[in-house]
Amino acid sequence: MIVTTPRLELRPPRESDRERFVGFFRDPDFMVFHPGAMTEVRAQARFDHMITLCATIPFAKQPVIERSSGLVVGYTGVDRIVFEGRTWLEWGYRLVPECRGLGYATEAARALLATAHRTYTGDLLAIIDPGNLPSRNVCRKLGFTYWKSAPVDGDVRNLYRLPVGPPPPRAG
Ligand SMILES: CC(C)(COP(=O)(O)OP(=O)(O)OC[C@H]1O[C@@H](n2cnc3c(N)ncnc32)[C@H](O)[C@@H]1OP(=O)(O)O)[C@@H](O)C(=O)NCCC(=O)NCCS
Repeated sequence: MIVTTPRLELRPPRESDRERFVGFFRDPDFMVFHPGAMTEVRAQARFDHMITLCATIPFAKQPVIERSSGLVVGYTGVDRIVFEGRTWLEWGYRLVPECRGLGYATEAARALLATAHRTYTGDLLAIIDPGNLPSRNVCRKLGFTYWKSAPVDGDVRNLYRLPVGPPPPRAG
């Protein structure tokens, strides 16, 4: 499914995106606030996983394309994670450094969240490093609310939740 906004397009990943994403995942600037840049093997596996997940979840992590340049400038969407013994859909976003500070993450994620509201019912999770203020701001703008602070892979993270799904039927 293709989602368009005034400045961006989101669509499932294609084999032709592989080189760009493997480059992103191996780049420490792109991977800031992540345990680190990936090896070639891990980056290839991560891209394979993106393709697989997008085949089953329409709002899984997928390319964000800048319409004015036609370039893939990052991704947004969910991945599956296990937290405290339960499988969650965790929302994320990541942009190339030159495309940060333009409102792209909020614009892209809002548009893809509309797909989540139509196709899924349940809570989404966001996991944010307490020092990552831009990410905290984006998640709040998307409607996530603070849940708690907890260790994730050994580091304390702030956790936010957002219930999605169709609105409840109106009484009467
Ligand atoms: C976190 C991240 C995705 C945020 O992306 P972003 O596009 O810069 O975030 P926003 O969409 O909120 O835009 C940021 C700023 O752009 C500006 N902006 C917002 N809408 C705009 C618009 N329509 N036109 C121009 N500028 C706009 C605002 O100044 C906004 O700042 P604010 O938060 O004070 O309102 C980005 O910084 C990034 O990739 N960081 C590294 C990876 C990362 O940390 N990912 C999250 C891990 S949890």
